[in-house]
Amino acid sequence: MKSLKEQDPEIYDYIEKETQRQNDNFELIASENFASKATISAMGSVLTNKYAEGYPGKRYYGGCEFVDEIEDIARDRAKKLFKADYANVQPHSGASANAAIYLAFMSPGDTLLGLDLAHGGHLTHGSPVNFSGITYKAEFYGVEKDTGRIDMDKVRDKAKKVKPRMISIGASAYPRDFDYEAFREIADEVGAFLWMDMAHTAGLIATGELNDPLQLCDVVSTTTHKTLRGPRGGMILVGKDGENKLGVTARKSGRVKNWSEVLDSAVFPGSQGGPLMHVIAGKAVAFGEALQPEFVSYQKQVRLNATAMANAFTNRGYDLVSGGTDNHLILVDLRSKGLNGKIAEESLDRAGITVNKNMVPFDTESPFVTSGIRIGTPALTTRGFGKEQFEQVAELIDKVLQDPENEERLNSIRSEVQAMCEEFPLYDFVTV
Ligand SMILES: Cc1ncc(COP(=O)(O)O)c(C=O)c1O
Repeated sequence: MKSLKEQDPEIYDYIEKETQRQNDNFELIASENFASKATISAMGSVLTNKYAEGYPGKRYYGGCEFVDEIEDIARDRAKKLFKADYANVQPHSGASANAAIYLAFMSPGDTLLGLDLAHGGHLTHGSPVNFSGITYKAEFYGVEKDTGRIDMDKVRDKAKKVKPRMISIGASAYPRDFDYEAFREIADEVGAFLWMDMAHTAGLIATGELNDPLQLCDVVSTTTHKTLRGPRGGMILVGKDGENKLGVTARKSGRVKNWSEVLDSAVFPGSQGGPLMHVIAGKAVAFGEALQPEFVSYQKQVRLNATAMANAFTNRGYDLVSGGTDNHLILVDLRSKGLNGKIAEESLDRAGITVNKNMVPFDTESPFVTSGIRIGTPALTTRGFGKEQFEQVAELIDKVLQDPENEERLNSIRSEVQAMCEEFPLYDFVTV
């Protein structure tokens, strides 16, 4: 058989270019990270050929003896990592994991109470353009204008008013930690399920850098490719398995089932077909890496770096939503600098610095322009950047934003970025 390079030089060429882009730029998108060579290798394996509908020991296809072992290892490592009774590693993505959770616990028309997208929430938490907002009645809580933080008294008032069937926690752009005890109390008061979507923060939660939602929430979903640093994918966890008396699947079947049974059937056959066994192998490898002591120090560094960068921006007169960060990301409000997110993202891109424009709470600009940028530390921390380098990164970002249309200056910053990237090499291969 031919190699990719021989078979399809055009695609190989673009992969090579993308590898070079990742090697030569500051990757600061808060939802991205760099998977290990071992994880990428598992994903690029013959496991992609295997159909394995069902679960280990209960498949609808023959020849599953080895993929059964792989999925079992992935589930066991995930359970160990998060001290969970149950893990489902089959969701193809974060959005797919969330779809299965809705299917398990909500009927069409039921009410969800989630964090407003414009205040840092995610599309799958009830946005009108997403299946979650189309199928269910979405109500929202937000952050306070003066603090940028969630006020739990207001969440309680809203929950009492709208009586949700499920309350979601979790965000794509919220720089602070969550008070799971307060959310649990509110959920119990109004008789709602409590779901945490820790897509962004799973790695920090696994290593104790952030509060742990596993024992307080009924169900937890995550992606596996952000702070968790695995392959692109999703996962569902339950801290404490037990009878689920309220879930839709249980009600429909006419008998009480455990959370784990309900969720397994909501993923397959409820919302997905065959699992991606090559990605599940990648998840197993990444979870194995996450169980090593180095992962604990990595997550600690991710947070230290975010704090260092937040301080560097504050010292340069930037407004940060909520005044700083507890986690891996900061949200810079550019209005006081007379800039918007679109201009900032584009000029930083020309200097080799990749961030994304992002709405800030109470934004007056459209989502295509925005007033802010979101900056995350997981990827460059994987590369080996520490506090000192992140302070330099903040300085370079500031230089760009002081004069965003000055091409000569952008080019000279581009060279500085490249030099720093060369000091901290990343990938030495194009395909594994
Ligand atoms: C909080 C949250 N949930 C879910 C998702 C969706 O994940 P995916 O892109 O894998 O579908 C994201 C992705 O950014 C997210 O931030």
